[in-house]
Amino acid sequence: MSGIERVGVVGCGLMGSGIAEVSARAELDVVVTEASEDALKAGQARVEKSLARAVRNGKLAGDERDAALARIRFTTDLADFADRQLVIEAVAENEQAKTEVFTSLDKIVTAPEAIFASNTSSIPIMKLGMATSRPQQVIGIHFFNPVPVLKLVELVPSLLTGEDTKARAQAFAQGKLGKQVILSQDRAGFVVNALLVPYLLSAIRMLESGFASPEDIDTGMVQGCAHPMGPLALTDLIGLDTTKAIAESMYAEFKEPLYSPPPLLLRMVDAGLLGKKSNRGFYDYS
Ligand code: CAA
Repeated sequence: MSGIERVGVVGCGLMGSGIAEVSARAELDVVVTEASEDALKAGQARVEKSLARAVRNGKLAGDERDAALARIRFTTDLADFADRQLVIEAVAENEQAKTEVFTSLDKIVTAPEAIFASNTSSIPIMKLGMATSRPQQVIGIHFFNPVPVLKLVELVPSLLTGEDTKARAQAFAQGKLGKQVILSQDRAGFVVNALLVPYLLSAIRMLESGFASPEDIDTGMVQGCAHPMGPLALTDLIGLDTTKAIAESMYAEFKEPLYSPPPLLLRMVDAGLLGKKSNRGFYDYS
């Protein structure tokens, strides 16, 4: 099969909107779906805002923005994915929700060689592959937030992913999108989150125990280690619900106490304090 030209993105939240945007900017034909009209409108607004930012920063010309937007079809109907050559699932970090998407895609997508990818941060790709009749065509393609800014993509083949799927997914991420690709085994958290999440959870434990203020914890890592942002601000950016879900998947896989989500994180998620997306997390964004 030739290169990938027709991409589908399931979910137009923080990650899905970014994946749709970078795919359209790479001149690919994109269909992106959300579960409801309201969520779809919010997703479209997210893409438009990010493109407007790129124009404002001189990264994109006005007509390139218009062309990118024209390449994206926004829909609430997964049936519109029938002709896609690559579908990237980017719904909430929930195993059941993701499994259901893969089972549906398997029935809807007609191209026999189509690739089904997941942007999961931590759920084993094998589980998603086994929700389809074609696990050899299922792979993890994991992006980083903000997707238009961060260069990395983790490529995660499962035990059953075919070499051809791996090569075509790499050609898409590297050749078409210009991302830097690293390969990871199919282990919860892959490379980056296996290192990042224990660090974020340690910062939350540090706050929880009264060790230091949120500002001082973050300033410590920004000014002391030249990180672009501190761990609590970064958890707010990722989303506290997503951070909790990743920690839970990693804890379920490895049973290591360092992956166990601390009570403060659990209570904040219960309270709807999810970070930037809800206007309040460790900091107030309202
Ligand atoms: N969408 C698009 N572009 C954005 C953006 C967004 N949401 N946020 C910032 N940018 C762009 C800005 O327009 C700016 O572009 P130019 O260089 O062209 O001007 C550039 O990014 C820098 O932005 P700012 O100057 O506004 O702010 P900053 O220098 O403080 O950078 C940041 C903001 C890019 C978010 C930076 O702080 C950063 O990289 N932080 C770390 C983010 C990180 O670690 N992400 C990984 C999270 S883990 C993950 O995603 C995976 C997972 O599974 C959980």
